[in-house]
Amino acid sequence: MNTHRDSGQQDPRQFDQQKQMDLVRDRFTRTASVFADFALADRGAEAEHLLRLIAPADNERALDVACGPGTLARIFARQVRWIGGLDLTPAMLARARDDAAANHIANFSPARGNALQMPFGDGTFDIVVTSYSIHHLPDPVVALREIARVVKRGGRFGLLDMAVSESPAYAKACNDIEIARDASHTRALPVSEFNSLFASCGFAVAACEIEDHPRSFDQWMHTAGWKRGDAAFEQTRKLLEASIPGDTAGLRAKFLSDPPTHPSAAGDSRPDIELHHTAAFIVGRKQ
Ligand SMILES: C[S@@+](CC[C@H](N)C(=O)[O-])C[C@H]1O[C@@H](n2cnc3c(N)ncnc32)[C@H](O)[C@@H]1O
Repeated sequence: MNTHRDSGQQDPRQFDQQKQMDLVRDRFTRTASVFADFALADRGAEAEHLLRLIAPADNERALDVACGPGTLARIFARQVRWIGGLDLTPAMLARARDDAAANHIANFSPARGNALQMPFGDGTFDIVVTSYSIHHLPDPVVALREIARVVKRGGRFGLLDMAVSESPAYAKACNDIEIARDASHTRALPVSEFNSLFASCGFAVAACEIEDHPRSFDQWMHTAGWKRGDAAFEQTRKLLEASIPGDTAGLRAKFLSDPPTHPSAAGDSRPDIELHHTAAFIVGRKQ
């Protein structure tokens, strides 16, 4: 059941946990290759940003929750003694192992598991990190409580995720666009809700920074496995276009004036659209 009592937010949708896990595995199996290519090539700077905020010591043990292809873990592995990775999707874990082997990263161990019921004892880790995962989970409160359980007292939790507008109407419009693109998207949160969740789950916020990430709509859809003409592509584009007057989803979307360059645009002269995602980097210390 999905409630947001602790954060004061209401989400009328109810998520069946098993169904949600099936949607996640389907999406990230279907797009394992394009998603991992994108994340490993383009999210290194974001991983470095979170690493700087956490500043690990070389004797610390860490965990990357919903690690995907090891986007954070491969960067954190340079500075910690050992880092585990946990993910639901075998195709993502295979990519994480291949990347670690190709880059001679011996202290990263990815394994299959559910972020909401982690196979670790209380207080196992000095550091837990997660990136772009909370908006795929059925309930952020349950997720953060489980993360808080496996972090040691005094340990740190580093979160990197997209954040939506503080306006509930804009946030809903943005989440509707995300869901049209990706059926495994549950709900992206505003920064204030992340901060409340940290506090209610026993983390004192030590750092909270945001970054602006402009993106090409065609490329963004490509990493979700869609091309122009696909029903999901067209429905998502329709919702995004409708948000442009008045910026009603807070994505600051605008039509690009140059002809489209993405391969999926061949024979389709509609302009690409630039949109902006807000990335939140939040670090908390367990009380
Ligand atoms: C958008 S990807 C992010 C991957 C990686 N952290 C990154 O930033 O590139 C989301 C990942 O969360 C994983 N995931 C979603 N729900 C999960 C759950 N309940 N337990 C473990 N992994 C989960 C998916 O399999 C997928 O690899």
